[in-house]
Amino acid sequence: MNDHLKYLMCGLIISVFGFFTSGIAQAYPRNEEIARGRYVMLAGDCLACHTNDGGKEFSGNRPIETPFGTIYSSNITPDIETGIGAWSEEQFYRSMHDGKRPDHQYLYPAMPYTYYRQLSRSDVNALFAYLKTVEPVHNEVKSPQLIWPLGWRRLMTLWTKMFLNKGEYQYDAQHSASWNRGAYLVKGAGHCGACHTEKNFLGADKRTQRLQGGEFQNWFAPMLIENSRNGLGGWTQDEIVEFLSTGRNSKTAAYGPMAEVITDSTSQLSVDDLNAIAEYLKTLPMTNDNDRKFVSNNAALQTGQEIFSAQCAGCHQENGEGVSHAFALLQDNANVQQSKPDTLIQAVLVGVRAVPTAAQPVGFAMPAFDWKLNDAQIAAVLTYVRNSWGNAAPPVTASQVRSTRSALVYARQSYNH
Ligand code: HEC
Ligand code: HEC
Ligand code: HEC
Repeated sequence: MNDHLKYLMCGLIISVFGFFTSGIAQAYPRNEEIARGRYVMLAGDCLACHTNDGGKEFSGNRPIETPFGTIYSSNITPDIETGIGAWSEEQFYRSMHDGKRPDHQYLYPAMPYTYYRQLSRSDVNALFAYLKTVEPVHNEVKSPQLIWPLGWRRLMTLWTKMFLNKGEYQYDAQHSASWNRGAYLVKGAGHCGACHTEKNFLGADKRTQRLQGGEFQNWFAPMLIENSRNGLGGWTQDEIVEFLSTGRNSKTAAYGPMAEVITDSTSQLSVDDLNAIAEYLKTLPMTNDNDRKFVSNNAALQTGQEIFSAQCAGCHQENGEGVSHAFALLQDNANVQQSKPDTLIQAVLVGVRAVPTAAQPVGFAMPAFDWKLNDAQIAAVLTYVRNSWGNAAPPVTASQVRSTRSALVYARQSYNH
């Protein structure tokens, strides 16, 4: 073989080898990116909203009830025609960050992009890389059914001008790296404020009341700031981590929409990330909480106490002490003392099933009382629970119970159709 040919062969072998190795080298970071994207998806709980009951994963069409009507989640599988298969990375970023669709129309904030816009570009790109790997599903999604004139999507352009300002999360050098990680998760992917922050009449967060509790589909997502009576002030960092990871702690268990958040999202996050979230939440300053005298009518409390002894004390104990990790401690319970009693009314009307998680596969249940107790009786027992053993919260009225009762009946009927 002449020298010339030798060099040529060598060069060829090296370049073929180089081609394969560079392919491998590229494949590994790509897999890492996809794995990271899946983790962002878990932190963002995308699956829950983007999968309809009985539908294929991420194929959308799940009805999302809002005070303005029903919006159906989009198909975010890589299907070319009905999903996001034809989207570019840039188009995906614009939708996650600005709520802007490829057709230049805006998304409704039922898609919590107002929080996801805090995500870093690289996390959004990773999320996109992950979504490209899920099974493409051809599934046309229904149009939103909203009250006039909100069906007119162009109005959302105005909405974004009014309510959208802050962009990606800015690192706060005053705090530790884990605090920043927690803030990033709570404000961004975790979109905790979507439920835990009160909304204005146009459905945007009331900024001065961040994480101070909010109504969500006949539930009330409680205060997450440091108040000791009705916030997380009485919870240690470890108790927050245990709750987010296993759905329970010695005080309470999660149920309703929070159960879904825990099953699909927080229970799947790393312990470091849960600690970061708890560290951040523990630094949210408390609000003024001086007014603690809400009920002075002892006769009303007397009726409530009788119902409590007969119906509830078997599990929650006469003094509201409950049973650790089984029946909620009602004494000193922040959830019980929220400004609005929606969650409690719903719990007593339809019952509660504590979230089952890998750590505790059997969730204890509380029976429904809707057939047993009338509106006035439920109002009385809850007023008693909210104002006994050191608890203090506004009384519950029979008309509040009546309106939750009819809203729930209505919701059940419309789901069955
Ligand atoms: C609380 C429910 C909810 C969650 C959680 C949620 N979405 Fe959505 N998403 C929606 C709804 C509803 C729409 C449709 C909004 C509209 O029609 O304006 C939507 C639309 C979208 C769109 C636009 C698709 C299109 O065709 O225009 C994308 C992309 C998207 N979501 C991605 C995600 C990702 C990624 C996550 C997780 C990080 C996520 N969503 C989490 C409810 C949700
Ligand atoms: C879909 C709405 C929704 C989202 C999103 C949500 N929560 Fe909740 N959360 C609720 C509701 C409703 C409750 C009350 C029911 C219960 O205690 O399980 C609750 C309860 C809680 C509690 C118990 C507080 C107490 O005093 O008992 C904690 C802690 C909590 N959420 C933290 C979070 C964090 C952190 C996030 C974001 C990672 C989050 N939640 C996201 C709806 C939500
Ligand atoms: C068979 C046992 C049982 C009975 C009877 C019962 N509960 Fe419960 N209760 C539970 C369980 C289980 C939970 C959910 C698990 C948890 O939060 O620890 C719960 C949760 C609650 C909560 C929510 C607490 C929180 O931390 O969010 C309230 C409020 C409540 N019950 C009030 C009542 C009232 C009022 C009655 C009587 C009308 C009653 N319960 C009867 C077992 C029971």
